[in-house]
Amino acid sequence: MVYQKILVPIDGSEHSKRALKEAIGLAKMTEGNITLLSVCTKGANQDNEAQQNKCKNALEDMQKIVEAEGVPVHELLLEGKVVDQIVRTAKEGCFDLVVIGARGLSRLEEIMMGSVSHGVAENAPCPVIVTR
Ligand SMILES: Nc1ncnc2c1ncn2[C@@H]1O[C@H](COP(=O)(O)OP(=O)(O)O)[C@@H](O)[C@H]1O
Ligand SMILES: [Mg+2]
Repeated sequence: MVYQKILVPIDGSEHSKRALKEAIGLAKMTEGNITLLSVCTKGANQDNEAQQNKCKNALEDMQKIVEAEGVPVHELLLEGKVVDQIVRTAKEGCFDLVVIGARGLSRLEEIMMGSVSHGVAENAPCPVIVTR
C-alpha cells in the first residue's frame, strides 16, 4: 500500500498543524497529495459567519504551508457532525490514509485522545495516523 491520497482534518489547533507536518513528510516520500478538511460546527450562540471565516482562514494558512513544501494540496470546507463528515469524506474520496492530531482545541489536558480523533480512528475506512 502506498499512501498517496492523504486526508488531514484540521481545526486550527497546534495539534492539527503537527499532524499536517507529518502528512507533508509522508506525501513527499510517496509523491502523494494532501486534502485539508475543516468541518465547521455551529456554536450555540455563535455567529455562523464568523465561525465560517475562522474555518476558511485556518484552511488558507495550512494550504500555504503545504504549497511551500511543494506538495499538491486541495481544501474542503464542510458543515455538520465532525466525525461523520471526516469518515464520509475518507470513504467517498477513497483516501489511502488519514493523519489527525491526538488532541485539538479543547483544554481538557488529562485526556489522551479527543473525541474527534477517537471517533475517526474507530470508524475510518482506511489506516489512520494519530499524531502527538
Ligand atoms: N472541526 C474539525 N474539523 C476538522 N478536523 C478536526 C475538527 N476538530 C478536530 N479535528 C481533528 O481532530 C484532532 C483531534 O481533535 P479533538 O478530538 O477535537 O480533540 P480535543 O478534544 O482536544 O479538541 C485535531 O487535531 C484535528 O486534526
Ligand atoms: Mg476538538
